[in-house]
Amino acid sequence: MSRQQRKIDHIDHALQVSLQQSSGFSDVHIVHQPLPETDVASVDLSVELGELSFSSPFYINAMTGGGGERTEKLNGDLAEVARELDIPIAVGSQMAALKNDSERSTYKVIRDRCPNGIVFANVGSEATVDQARASIDMIEANALQVHLNVIQELVMPEGDRTFTGTIKKVESIVQSTDVPVIVKEVGFGINREAARQLAEVGVSVIDVAGSGGTNFAEIENRRRKDPYTHFENWGIPTAVSVAEVASEQLPVSLVASGGIRDSLDIIKSITLGADAVAMAGPVLKSVESNGVASTIEWLNHIREEMKMYMTALGAPTIHTLQKTPIVLSGFVHHWLQERGVD
Ligand code: FNR
Repeated sequence: MSRQQRKIDHIDHALQVSLQQSSGFSDVHIVHQPLPETDVASVDLSVELGELSFSSPFYINAMTGGGGERTEKLNGDLAEVARELDIPIAVGSQMAALKNDSERSTYKVIRDRCPNGIVFANVGSEATVDQARASIDMIEANALQVHLNVIQELVMPEGDRTFTGTIKKVESIVQSTDVPVIVKEVGFGINREAARQLAEVGVSVIDVAGSGGTNFAEIENRRRKDPYTHFENWGIPTAVSVAEVASEQLPVSLVASGGIRDSLDIIKSITLGADAVAMAGPVLKSVESNGVASTIEWLNHIREEMKMYMTALGAPTIHTLQKTPIVLSGFVHHWLQERGVD
């Protein structure tokens, strides 16, 4: 099967698979504040992520590229959404385009449609320093995402089987690029021990991309004739992963992603300690099913709802929202207690 076809399969299966796992947000309860002392007009959604500043605390996460006309059109649509909302957007893995020049236009369309926007490059952790630099240059990226996708590789028959030396590779990428490096998972989460290692080698942003959203084990299994269902119930739920990493108080910015579906998930992520939030699958589904204009409307609506929640909580900024008291129940509470997270 060609790499181009694999990209198209990922899109089609991501549009179909149902959300079977929990992201853990139903175990996060925000303490109501009857005396908020604030007003909707003074709520400020702006946020800083490492050296980057955004006007809203959410962005479109890495999805696709390299799949020919269909992905080029899709990326163009996603970029229009990002431009109109003035939010950052990450391109999909550029590993294919680094090997094959003819695939570059499917990524470049994002920079072309967002000439002044914040765009993230994306490579796998197997990338060499030269490949990482080339991916940034290809789209004049403002930051570089390095994805960790061990489970996806293991589930793919044609996937990698060797995962040694990754932290060293991440370290050399950090040392030789002059934009911030964001390390992300692809839907299985990041634990606090790994987060500590990533912070030690100079990563500026960690995006947990936990379980409960797009499930790459399920997507890869669906592509096979002989379904191999290992790893479909694998991963650290996003709410747990954010709480674990936040508890380390590392000198990194923290992004919650994986199963973020509405404004309340975003609010809960920030109360757990995230600085910002990212969404992939739901934006893809919205653009494919409802078009660009409706997707912009939906995300604008999320922004307005966030302002309502923040007003109700007396938390007019992202920093104050991070300090809002919460109560954890059920599985999330149990997990964090077992792991000794305060
Ligand atoms: C992805 N994701 C992804 N991540 C990455 O770092 N590089 C990539 O090339 C891709 N490709 C990709 C394709 C498609 C079709 C989807 C839906 C997703 C993973 C994505 O960035 C994100 O981490 C997960 O999808 C979890 O977030 P959601 O979808 O639950 O919001």
